[in-house]
Amino acid sequence: MIIDVAADPAAGITSAVEALGRGDVIAVPTETVYGLAADATNEAAVSQIFDIKRRPGFNPLICHCSDLEMVSEFATLDPVSLRLADRFWPGPMTLVLNSNPGRLPSVTTAGLTTVAIRIPMGFSNGLIRSYGRPLAAPSANISGRVSATTAAHVESEFGDGVPLILDGGPTKIGVESTILRVRENGIELLRPGGLPIELVEHAAGLQVSAPNLSRKVLAPGMLTSHYAPRAMVRLNATRVEPGETLLKFGDAILPGEGACARVFNLSPEGGLEEFAAKLYATLKEADDAGAESIAIVPIPDEGLGLAINDRLRRAAAPRTLTLGELEQAAVRNKEAR
Ligand code: TXA
Ligand code: MG
Repeated sequence: MIIDVAADPAAGITSAVEALGRGDVIAVPTETVYGLAADATNEAAVSQIFDIKRRPGFNPLICHCSDLEMVSEFATLDPVSLRLADRFWPGPMTLVLNSNPGRLPSVTTAGLTTVAIRIPMGFSNGLIRSYGRPLAAPSANISGRVSATTAAHVESEFGDGVPLILDGGPTKIGVESTILRVRENGIELLRPGGLPIELVEHAAGLQVSAPNLSRKVLAPGMLTSHYAPRAMVRLNATRVEPGETLLKFGDAILPGEGACARVFNLSPEGGLEEFAAKLYATLKEADDAGAESIAIVPIPDEGLGLAINDRLRRAAAPRTLTLGELEQAAVRNKEAR
C-alpha cells in the first residue's frame, strides 16, 4: 500500500505506527533519501530489513531518533558530537557514537560497540516522535544499487516486498547523510553526504579528514562498487561520444553533444545542490531508457560536490568484488569488534 503523506500526514503516521508495532518493515521519506525502516529495538523486524535489502549482516544500520533525549537512551555524546548535534540536527548528518550497552539488538549495530545515529527532519521526525522508539533505516534500495529518492523508485525496487510505502514526494537533498566520527584529535569523515564538511569544520573548529583505513570497519557503502546503475559510467567527460548519455550542469555545450543519445542537464543554473537532488533519479531514468554508457562532466570537490563525486566514483567502479576483497572485509570487521 502507498499512502500520500504530503496530502494526509496524519493518516500516514497512524498506519505507519501500527505497522511498526507489528514488526513490519516500511518505506519512509527522509530529507536525504527514502529509508527502509523498522523498530530498531525489535530484532526480528530489523532482521527483515537485511533480508529485503539483501544486505550483508556485517553492515550496521543507522538508528533514527526524534530528539536528543531519545538519542541519549541509546548512545553517549562526547562534547564535540554534542556541539555538532545542537548545530546540525535535525538534518542530513549521522554521528557514530559509543552505544549504551544492551539497549539495541546486535543485529541493528552488527555487534559493534558503536552506533550510527541521526535525527532526521520533517515527516520522518514526526513519525519517530509518534512511535516513541528509534527506527533503524538503511536507504531503500537493494544493496549495491542507487538509493531511492521517490516512492515510485522504492516500489520498482521492492514491489510487494514492502507492505507500506509512505510517499512524501521526491526527497529534498537527494544524497545520503554525511557520516562522522569524532575522535580525540579531529573528526573522521566516514561518508561524505548531504551536509557539506566545510560547515562541519566551521562549527566544530576542527578538521574533518578521511578515516584511518587500518581500523575502518569495511561496510558495503565503503566498498568500491556501490550506488551503481546498470549502465556503464564515465567520469570527468569533457566531450561526449556518439551513443553516450550525458549528465551535465551549467550552460556550456560539450563537444559531441549533437551526436550523443541524450542530454540531461540537472541544473542549468549550475548549482551542485540541484545536481545532487536529481542525481539518483536521473541515473535511474537513464537506466530505464536503456542507456548503455553514461558520461558525466567534472564536478568540483567542494560543498555537495564531495558527496556527488564519492557516489559517482563508486558508480563508475568495476562491478564485481573479488573474493580477496570480501575476505579482507570479514577480517577487518572481526578485528574492529
Ligand atoms: O541519509 C541517510 O543516511 C539514509 C537515510 C535513510 O537516513 N540512510 C542510509 O543508510 O544511507 P545506509 O544503511 O544505506 O548507510 C549507512 C552507513 C553504512 O555504510 C554503514 O556501514 C554505516 O552507515 N554505519 C552504520 N553504523 C556504523 C558504525 N557503528 N560505524 C561505522 N559505520 C557505520
Ligand atoms: Mg545505502
